Formats: sequence, structure tokens, C-alpha cells
Amino acid sequence: MEEKDKNLIFDDEQDKLLNHEYDGIQELDNPMPPWWLYGFYFTIALSVVYLLWYDVLGIGPSQSEEYQREMAAAAEMYGVDPGAAPGTTVDYAALEILTDQASLDAGRIVYTNPAQLCVTCHGANAQGLVGPDLTNEYWKHGCDLPSLMISVKVGFPQQGMPAYGSGSRLTDLQLQQLASYLISLRGSNPDGAKAPDMSRSERCEI
Ligand code: HEC
Repeated sequence: MEEKDKNLIFDDEQDKLLNHEYDGIQELDNPMPPWWLYGFYFTIALSVVYLLWYDVLGIGPSQSEEYQREMAAAAEMYGVDPGAAPGTTVDYAALEILTDQASLDAGRIVYTNPAQLCVTCHGANAQGLVGPDLTNEYWKHGCDLPSLMISVKVGFPQQGMPAYGSGSRLTDLQLQQLASYLISLRGSNPDGAKAPDMSRSERCEI
């Protein structure tokens, strides 16, 4: 009979002892702890359900479907879709440029309102500071009324312009007045106008 290893504590350990040793360290062939094993089985079972649910049967939405849903929800919430069905949001594309003095004054008040910060980045006369000059013919995101409203509403966070300039919300009417006011400034050639940024490659008539 084999001689019992003096390091072993329990009787059955002799059978479990694996036939290797490194630097005096020996290994017993013990089973995996049950909690670990069941956790592993659970992930296997879950992966089958996941595969069926999302890929085989297609019950769950795919990544692109989720993206579409989120975009539709955002369009509904912020009205960024100009052609949105009437009743859900204002159809910006159908709005007219306001030219009456009262509306232009209202637009100017929004533009110069410190809470909106437009002046901080575009200058008191929209001549451009950090942001581009808004009075010349060079535009990047469209120069018609709906495009301007959407530009202000959504902002360009990557380029440094928050939504509504400062994140402080404006109504659709205020956006319309603001955009109309900006259009009225077009070609005004204000003092100190910032040099046109040629990446704003869309040319608008002034
Ligand atoms: C923190 C700075 C900042 C503030 C505040 C800000 N803007 Fe801007 N704005 C920018 C920058 C920078 C751009 C250029 C974005 C780009 O190049 O894509 C821009 C672009 C725009 C454009 C689009 C220009 C184009 O070429 O299509 C409009 C319109 C505009 N701003 C209007 C406004 C109005 C109105 C306000 C106030 C409600 C405002 N901005 C507040 C920095 C600002």
C-alpha cells in the first residue's frame, strides 16, 4: 500500500491527490463549488434564451431598432423632425418668416437675453465671437427658418453650443421669432464681423 502523505488531513484526500507538485505545493482534485457551477449553468441557459429572444425569433429589438425608437421619441419630444405629423409637434417646415416689428422685437429680446447666452458667443449684433457670424451668407446647418429654429433648439454640443444656447428652453413661437430676427439681420454687415468660416460652405442669398 502507498504510504500516506503526511500533509493530508482527511482520509479521502489520498485518492484526490493529483500527481503533480510544484515547489512543494500539491493539488487535490476537488469538485467546483456548487454556487460557482450553478452560476455558470445559469449563464449558459441565459445565453440560449438571449440568442432566441433577440437573434433567432427577433422578439426583442435589435440595436438599430432601439436607435430608431430613441430617435423617434427624441423627435417627438424636441420637435427636431421638421416634417412631423401635425398635432404631435409643430411642423417647422410650414412656418412663415415673421416680418412684423413686434415679432422681430420679441426675437431680439430672446437673442439679447443673458439667460440665452447667444450674445456671449455670437456677439451683440450677431457679428460672431466664439460662434460664427450669423449675418453673412456662409452657413453650415441651413439658413432657412426651420433650419435656424432646429439649430437653436438642438444646439451643437460637440462644437460648444448647448441646446437653446444655454439649455434654457424656448417655446416654438420664441424660436420662430428668434429665427426671424436672425434672418432680418442677414446682410447687415455689423462692425467687427468675424471673418467667414469657409467650412460653413452653404451659401445663402442676402
Ligand atoms: C457657448 C457658445 C454658444 C452659445 C451660447 C450659442 N451659440 Fe450658436 N453656435 C456656437 C458655435 C460654436 C456654432 C458653430 C457650430 C458648428 O460649426 O457646427 C454655433 C452655431 C449656431 C448656428 C448655426 C450656424 C450655421 O452656420 O448653420 C445658429 C443659427 C446659432 N448658433 C444661433 C445661436 C443662437 C440664436 C443662440 C442663443 C439662443 C446661440 N447660437 C448660442 C456657439 C454658441
